[in-house]
Amino acid sequence: MDPAVVLVLCLSSFLLLSLWKQSSRKGKLPPGPTPLPIIGNILQLDIKNISKSLSNLSKVYGPVFTLYLGLKPTVVLHGYEAVKEALIDLGEEFSGRGSFPAAERANKGLGIIFSNGKRWKEIRRFSLMTLRNFGMGKRSIEDRVQEEARCLVEELRKTNATPCDPTFILGCAPCNVICSIIFHNRFDYTDENFLNIVEIFDENVKIISSPWMQLCNSFPMVLDYFPGSHKKLFKNVAYVKSYVLEKAKEHQASLDINNPRDFIDCFLIKMEQEKQNQQSEFTLENLTVTAFDLFGAGTETTSTTLRYALLLLLKHPEVTAKVQKEIDHVIGRHRSPCMQDKSHMPYMDAVVHEIQRYIDLIPTNLPHAVTRDIKFRNYLIPKGMTILTSLTSVLHDDKEFPNPEVFDPRHFLDERGNFKKSDYFMAFSAGKRMCAGEGLARMELFLFLTAILQKFTLKSVVDPKDIDTTPITNGFASVPPSYQLCFIPM
Ligand code: HEM
Repeated sequence: MDPAVVLVLCLSSFLLLSLWKQSSRKGKLPPGPTPLPIIGNILQLDIKNISKSLSNLSKVYGPVFTLYLGLKPTVVLHGYEAVKEALIDLGEEFSGRGSFPAAERANKGLGIIFSNGKRWKEIRRFSLMTLRNFGMGKRSIEDRVQEEARCLVEELRKTNATPCDPTFILGCAPCNVICSIIFHNRFDYTDENFLNIVEIFDENVKIISSPWMQLCNSFPMVLDYFPGSHKKLFKNVAYVKSYVLEKAKEHQASLDINNPRDFIDCFLIKMEQEKQNQQSEFTLENLTVTAFDLFGAGTETTSTTLRYALLLLLKHPEVTAKVQKEIDHVIGRHRSPCMQDKSHMPYMDAVVHEIQRYIDLIPTNLPHAVTRDIKFRNYLIPKGMTILTSLTSVLHDDKEFPNPEVFDPRHFLDERGNFKKSDYFMAFSAGKRMCAGEGLARMELFLFLTAILQKFTLKSVVDPKDIDTTPITNGFASVPPSYQLCFIPM
């Protein structure tokens, strides 16, 4: 054998052995497949459908098992019981954010999504309060989403009932809602700055979901020493951060502390209040990363869900007809939909839940980490260990949702046609780290979809029976196949 190969094998076996020793010293990890030197269990995972691989592994190793993604052990939780026990019952202990080396380089541990400890708690609390309207001035968040829903309908009208791919328009609407919340104003769908932002987030999601990024996460040194799409990701992050910084400086010049216009104003006011505190988390740098995080988390997620939603409605015209009947009955054709309508629209509520359950947008959640050494079931998980939770295993649980692979709004309806809640609805995850934009996302999904179905008949360009709703990728996010449809004005 080539001496170089022998050397690499020896070195990697040594590394793996020391890692094992380290973890056994620190705790008793759950069982799992035997890892190979250096690459760990990567060959046992289908990068295009990690969730499916986890499901298969759970059949052998049970609901709690250990996987080596490269050299790094990760504990996987599969099924409602294990996920709930960790994220809800032991919420504090499982509230750490698991390592995502590319994001750590780009964000330097700031912001909300990839931060930890005191910083995460403070920025999250502040962001949640602001997104719930506290201190957001005169215009409510609902007002902003309703305005965007009207603009969205107008943009769709411009397609003149001709076949179109809705990706771009459905991408603009959620991005504009975040713009309205962060910068106070929405943009025209042709504005150059706006298009730049939309394009950047679209590109970033593609980069993050790529097999290359999985490789970078397993072997972080790749980020420093190799060229690749991660460099573009860093460039994109820097661009958005500098744009937010420029806006923040403009805001500073015209700030009225008694009348905050948007998220940036609220943040600047908090900075002012804490200016004597040397350890304050409210700094301009943290503002830029937090704003970036809200864009990153709040645009592609909602727009991909909307795009998938229309595909499912095309595939199931009987469901669409029922929704439209309910809209006619509760809202009529002329008044703008509002959130109050939702409580009178159980069928629509069930349809939106079923869309989110069925598409399972983020199959393996964002990685968590344990914040201290913890005994979980019979295992000892050391502080800092990355935890992967399979949301698929909860959203597609066949006891809670009979025929989970079938799109059926009855999964969320009782026998009388009332909306039926389910603890298994974890599309936004659960516990302390649960999606910070859940309220906003639900509002957007309800108002945008209702506004579209109130004003248009959706017409597929192929026979609904021939529509394939299988996602084209299932890595980080489930992405629907591309398709065309016609929006026929009513
Ligand atoms: C359909 C739309 C959406 C889905 C399915 C979704 C889902 C998720 C999921 C699964 C997580 C990870 C939770 C965890 O770590 O346990 C998350 C985190 C997050 N989401 Fe969303 N999200 C959506 C829309 C939004 C929107 C509109 C915002 C906007 C502002 C947003 C902001 C965030 C933030 C800031 C986090 C990080 C929370 C933290 O680390 O504390 N999301 N989301």
